[in-house]
Amino acid sequence: MEAYEAQWNKAKDQPEVFWSAIAAHFQWKKPWNKVLEWNFEEPCIRWFEGAQLNITENCLDRHLDSIGDQAALVWEPNDPSEPFQSLSYRELHQEVETAAAMLRMHGIKKGDRVCIYLPMVPELAIAVMACARVGAIHSVVFGGFSAQSIADRINDAQCNLVICSDGAFRGSKTIPMKSTVDDALDRCPSVNKVLVLTRSRSAVSMIKTRDFWWKEEFEKAKEKRAELGYAEVMEAEDPLFILYTSGSTGKPKGVVHTTAGYMVWANYTFVNAFQFQPGDVHFCTADIGWITGHSYILYGPLSAGATSLMFEGVPSWPDARRFWQIVEKHRVQLFYTAPTAIRSLMGSPYRPSENDLSSLRVLGSVGEPINETAWQWYKDEVGGGRLPITDTWWQTETGGIMICPIPGITPEKPGKATLPLPGIVPVLFNEKGEELHALQSSGNLCIKAPWPGMLRTTWGDHERCKNTYFSAYPGNYFTGDGCERDADGYYKITGRVDDVLNVSGHRIGTAELENAINQFTDVVESAVVGYPHEIKGQGIYAFVILNRTPEDPALIKQDILATVSRLIGPIAKPDEILFVEALPKTRSGKIMRRILRKIAEGQPEAIGDTSTLLDPDVVKAILEASQNKP
Ligand code: WTA
Repeated sequence: MEAYEAQWNKAKDQPEVFWSAIAAHFQWKKPWNKVLEWNFEEPCIRWFEGAQLNITENCLDRHLDSIGDQAALVWEPNDPSEPFQSLSYRELHQEVETAAAMLRMHGIKKGDRVCIYLPMVPELAIAVMACARVGAIHSVVFGGFSAQSIADRINDAQCNLVICSDGAFRGSKTIPMKSTVDDALDRCPSVNKVLVLTRSRSAVSMIKTRDFWWKEEFEKAKEKRAELGYAEVMEAEDPLFILYTSGSTGKPKGVVHTTAGYMVWANYTFVNAFQFQPGDVHFCTADIGWITGHSYILYGPLSAGATSLMFEGVPSWPDARRFWQIVEKHRVQLFYTAPTAIRSLMGSPYRPSENDLSSLRVLGSVGEPINETAWQWYKDEVGGGRLPITDTWWQTETGGIMICPIPGITPEKPGKATLPLPGIVPVLFNEKGEELHALQSSGNLCIKAPWPGMLRTTWGDHERCKNTYFSAYPGNYFTGDGCERDADGYYKITGRVDDVLNVSGHRIGTAELENAINQFTDVVESAVVGYPHEIKGQGIYAFVILNRTPEDPALIKQDILATVSRLIGPIAKPDEILFVEALPKTRSGKIMRRILRKIAEGQPEAIGDTSTLLDPDVVKAILEASQNKP
C-alpha cells in the first residue's frame, strides 16, 4: 500500500516524470518532445507530442524474439464441440501483416475509417490490428446493433470500407450479419468496399466490385505481406479508433482515442489492475464491440505479452457451466467479467467449484455497480473465498480502468471500486457546482487532471465533447456518474446521474430510445426510465401514449419492440411497456422522470410532491394503469 501511495503521489505531483518513465518501456520510432500539454477549456489534451510509433509493433513485433511461440490469442468457439484455436505471437503477427496488406490492396491508407461488424472470431482481432497497422481508424460496431445504427455510425465517420461476416453464432441461434450490413449500406454512400468473412455459411448477397470474400482476398494478400504488411508511422496524437457510445442527448457520439496515450494507458492499467505476470492467460468475457474488449482483450493484454482468451459464445449455452469449463480447459489466471453475468450465473444449479478453477489468481468486474450479494458470491463461489476481486470503474471515454483495488494489495470492501490508479485524481461536486472537500461526501464524480488514455474529442463535433464532458464543472472532466466517498477515501460509484441507462452493462440513452419508440406509427409520445432489475442491473420501463385505444395491446407492444430492434438493436428493447393517457409534466413542459421512476420501481408512496405538475391527476391515472397492467 505504501508503494501504491508513493506512485499515486508521484503521478499527481510530477506527471511528466512519472509517465515518461512508464512510456520508456515501449517501442518508439521517434521519442517525444513533450510528455504532456493540456487545457480542459477547449479541451486540448496532447500526450507524448512529437513521438512516432505504431501500436501493433508494440503489441506484436517487439514480442517476437522473446515470446514469439507463446499463444497471443486463444479462441474458444460458441459451440464447445468445435475445436478451439490458438495463435502464437508469431502467427498473429503474420496474420495481421497479411490483413494489413489486404486492406492496402483495397486502397485503405492512413487516416481512412474502417467499420468492423463481426462476431467474436479471431479475424475480428486480426481486422482491428490490421487497421492499426496501416493507420486506418477502426470503428467497431457491436454485432447486436441494427442496420440503422450501423448506417448512422458509418455515415458519421464516413467509412470507406466495411468488414463483416455472413452470419454469427450466439448460443443456439444463428444471426444474420451481412444482410444487416446490406440494409445499412443502402444509406451509406461513402462505403465502396466490403470484405465478407465466412462464419455461419449462410447465403448472402454479393455485389460485383463492392463485395469481396475475406478468404480469397486474404489468400491473394499473402504474397504481398512482406511488401504491404509494414507498420505505418503514426504520430502520437493520430487517432487510433472511434467507438460510439450513448449519451443523454441525441445520437450516439464517436469517442476518439489517439495512439500513444491510449497504448500506454491500456498497458499500464492492464498490468496493474490485474497484477499481470508473464505467462498469464487473461479471459475477458466482453465483446470487442465495446471498450472493454478493445482495451482488455486486445491492446492491454497484447502490449503486455499476455495470452488473451477470446470467447465467441454466451455464458448460458449449452449450459451455465461454460465460463468455468473454459477457465479449467485453458488454465486461466485472470478472469474479467460483468456483474450482469455473475448475477445470471448465481441462479444456476451448477456450482463453479464443480470445475477445477485452481489456476485462477485474480477476478475482475466491470461495466456497472456490483451489488454486495453478487460480489460475495463471486468471492466465495468463484474465488473460493481466497481470490482478490478488482471492481474496476471506468468508461468508453476513459480508455482504461480508472478506479479499482490493486488485487492482493488494496484492502477490499464489497461493492466499492475503492481507490484511484496512479494518474487519476477524482473529485466530487454537489449540484451547485461546489467541490466537496470532506473525505466523506457524495456527489457527481469528476476527474481533475488529464491521464494518457482519456478521449481527445468526439468525432466531427468537438463542441459536443466540450459541452458533454468539460462544461458542467469547468476545469474538470465530468463522468456522468454519481459517487460516494467514505471515511477511508474509498469510492463507490452509484450509477449514472444523467439520462443514460446501464442495462446488462450496456449504455443506452433514454432520448435515443424515446426517439425510436416515437417513430412507431401509433405513438404520440413516450418516456423511458430505468428501474432496478435483478439480473440486468437496470431494466427499461417505457411509458407510451398512443393516438388510439389499441384493439390488441399485446400485439402493439410486440410491434413497438420490433420497431426498437430495427432502429437501434435488440439490446435496447424495453422490458416493460405501459400505455398511458398522459405524462407527468411541469408547467414548462418538462417530463418529471423522478415520478415515472418511482412508479417503475413500484414505490408510488415515494413519489412525493406533485404540486409543480401542470396536472397532478395524471399521476393518479398512470398509477391506476400500472396496477391494472396485464
Ligand atoms: C458504469 C464500460 C459501477 C458507469 C467500461 C460508467 C460502473 C459506465 C463500473 C461506462 C463499476 C462501469 N462500478 N459502475 N465498476 N464500471 N460502470 O462506457 O456508470 O460502456 O459511467 O464503459 O458504466 O460504460 P461504458
